[in-house]
Amino acid sequence: MRTLRTIAEVRAAVREARAAGKTVGLVPTMGAFHAGHVPLMREARANDSFVVVSLFVNPTQFGPSEDLSAYPRDEARDAALAEAEGVDVLFAPDPAEIYPDGFATTIHIDGVTAVLDGAARGAFHFDGVATVVAKLFGIVAPDAAYFGQKDAQQILVIRRLVRDLNIDVRIVACPIVREADGLAMSSRNVYLDPDARRQATALNRALDAAAAVAYAGERDAVAIVAAARAVLDDAGIAPEYLELRSADDLTPVATLETEALLAVAARVGSARLIDNHLLHGTDTRASA
Ligand code: PAF
Repeated sequence: MRTLRTIAEVRAAVREARAAGKTVGLVPTMGAFHAGHVPLMREARANDSFVVVSLFVNPTQFGPSEDLSAYPRDEARDAALAEAEGVDVLFAPDPAEIYPDGFATTIHIDGVTAVLDGAARGAFHFDGVATVVAKLFGIVAPDAAYFGQKDAQQILVIRRLVRDLNIDVRIVACPIVREADGLAMSSRNVYLDPDARRQATALNRALDAAAAVAYAGERDAVAIVAAARAVLDDAGIAPEYLELRSADDLTPVATLETEALLAVAARVGSARLIDNHLLHGTDTRASA
């Protein structure tokens, strides 16, 4: 595996791979790899013959009061893990390589960005995500890009980005990876002290409780969300949001009919955590 810092180096590596007949898979990340990142790399490795992982803590998607400077960073550890997963290139640019002096473009996507994390964190967040992901697509020109379903809204934003800008890339969503007690894996879990770590399991338990009432036949969104809220109340967690929305476009859902996203965000200890379950109105199987 090569660690590359410049856009020119990555383009040359990708050109060489394409000349050798390879397909290119991209896994965009902000590093601090955990077990949730591994399936993204494995899926890319399984589908594509040349795998690029980007490692860039993107400053534009963090607000002034957020954790940009504290965000966990350990490039040497990340590089070792990526290499062990058979990644070909780790693209780890400096901020100035991505945002040189005079950088003046921001991509803003309407609709799916206006709710959930877009509302809770502010429009800058998905503007920052869309802009950096569009840049990564422009730099690597991958055949496919791999994202974790834990950031379900981010995936919808990126699908909208590639549709609206005619970017020729397949977006692959990989299932949420959970700890044994159900907590969704996240780089931000390192912020949890032992008490907060225990409390944080309530997020997935809340989503499970909502799924249980849905699969028992409840179709009313208010009742489904209430089942989740009761678990959070019990755990002393006041969510930033807890909402059932269309899994296609995040419009509000009053009755669970087809596929809906039950999404939660909450501050637990000093971490802001998100999680979600997809609920299917048409069947009775529980699904995470
Ligand atoms: O999900 C993330 O890690 C980031 O939002 C992404 C997609 C790498 C863009 O910075």
